[in-house]
Amino acid sequence: MAEKEPIGVIGVGWVGLCTAACFAELGHPVIARDILPEKVESLSRGEVPIHEPGLPELVRKNADRLRFTTDMGELLEGAELLFCCVDTPPLYSGDADLSRVEAVVAELGDSNSHAIVMKSTVPVGTGRAIHRRREDLGYVSNPEFLKEGSAVDDFMNPDRVVVGSGDGSDGFADRVAALYEPLGGPIVRTDVASAEMIKLASNAFLATKISFINEIANVSEELGADVREVARGMGLDERIGDKFLQAGLGFGGSCFPKDVSALKQLAGNSGYHFQLLNSVIEVNDLQKRRAIGKLQKHLGPLVNKEIALLGVAFKPNTDDIREATSLVLAARLQSEGAHVRVYDPVALDNAEDLLGGAQVCSSALEALDGADGAVLVTEWPEFGELDWAGEVRERMRAPVIVDGRNFLDRTALREAGFTYEGIGR
Ligand code: UDX
Repeated sequence: MAEKEPIGVIGVGWVGLCTAACFAELGHPVIARDILPEKVESLSRGEVPIHEPGLPELVRKNADRLRFTTDMGELLEGAELLFCCVDTPPLYSGDADLSRVEAVVAELGDSNSHAIVMKSTVPVGTGRAIHRRREDLGYVSNPEFLKEGSAVDDFMNPDRVVVGSGDGSDGFADRVAALYEPLGGPIVRTDVASAEMIKLASNAFLATKISFINEIANVSEELGADVREVARGMGLDERIGDKFLQAGLGFGGSCFPKDVSALKQLAGNSGYHFQLLNSVIEVNDLQKRRAIGKLQKHLGPLVNKEIALLGVAFKPNTDDIREATSLVLAARLQSEGAHVRVYDPVALDNAEDLLGGAQVCSSALEALDGADGAVLVTEWPEFGELDWAGEVRERMRAPVIVDGRNFLDRTALREAGFTYEGIGR
C-alpha cells in the first residue's frame, strides 16, 4: 500500500492537536511542532491537557504515527504540507493578532517544496499578503469548522471541507484535498480570499442566527409566545434549518465573539460599515445580562441575596470559559451586591481567578444550598438530573430558578413550587 502523505502541524493547541490526531487516525505519519517544551513532553507521554471528548484516546491510539517536537527543522524534514494552527486572538481593536502566524512564516527558510496550509482563522487577504512576500512557499487556505466538545466527530464527518488556493499553489491544494477524500464530505475548491471569508462569514452567520432567536425570545416573552415552539416551526423550513435556533443567555467561546468582531473590524478597515454585526454583538452583550432582570423581578434588590450559578463553561462538554456568559453574570451580580456561588463539572480550575469573589462550590447541591435564586447558565446534563422537587427544593431558601438555556422541565418545576423563568417562554 502506498505511503500516506506525511503531515506537519505547527501549533499544538486545540485546533492543532485535533488536526494532528485525526490525520494520524487516517493513517498519516504526523509531526507536530509547538514552541512550549513542557507541552511537547507531556503530549509525547500521551498526556492531553485539553478537555475534548475522544481526543486523548485518539492521541494515545496513534502514538506510533504521531510525533511531537519543538524543532522546526525536524518538521521541515518530515513533511511538505505544513498545517498552521497557531492562535490568532483578538487585539483590543478587534483586529486579529497575526503575530504568531508571522513568526511561523519567518521561521520557514527558503523552500520550494513546502506549503503553508492555513487552518488558523485569519482576516481575508492574509494569504495573498503572505504569498506575495514568500513566493517560494506554497499557500493553501483550509479553515476549520470544529466545535468544542465534538471536534473529533466534526473533523471526521465534515459538512464540507474548504480548500482555497491560487498563484501556483493548486498542486499543493490538490494534495490537501486528497487528504480529506476518505472522509467523504463535499470539498469546496476556491480561491484563498473566498476560503478565508467562508470561515468568517459562517461563524458570523451562526452568531447572527443566535442573536436573532434571542431577540425573538425576548419579544415572545412580551407577547406570550413560546420561543421553543417558534423555533420548532421555523426550523422545519429547510431554508432556515433547526440548528442554532436555541434561545439562551448568549453565545460565548473562543470563536464567535472573536470572529464577529474581526469581520466587523475588517469591513470597517475596508471602508464598509457592517451594521448587522454591530447589532449581533450588542444583542449578545445584553442577552448575557438578561438573567439579572429576571432575578430582580422575583427577589427585588439583589443586595445580600445568595445566587447560585449552575455552569461556568461557555457551553457543555468543554472546560473552556472564554467569553463565557457566567463570567459576565458573576461580575454583574456581585456589583448588584449579591453573593455568588458557582459550580461547573469541569471548568472551575480555569475560572477561579476570573470569577471575582464568587464562592466556588464542589457540587451543584452545595451551590444551591441556602440560595435565594439560581441561574442555569450552561446546560450540563447533570443539572437536568438533579432532584429539583426534593433535595433542591429543600435546600434553596427561595425556589426561584432562571433557566438560561430552556433546559429544565418547566412544568415539573412549577408543580414542585418553583418560580420558573425561561428565556422566551
Ligand atoms: C464554533 C463553531 O460552531 C465552529 O464551527 C467553529 O469552528 C468554532 O466556533 P464553538 O465555539 O465550539 O464552535 O461553539 P458552538 O457549539 O458553535 O457554540 C457557540 C456558542 O453559541 C455557545 O456559547 C453556545 O452556547 C451558543 N449557542 C449555540 C446558542 O446560544 N444557541 C444555539 O442554538 C447554539
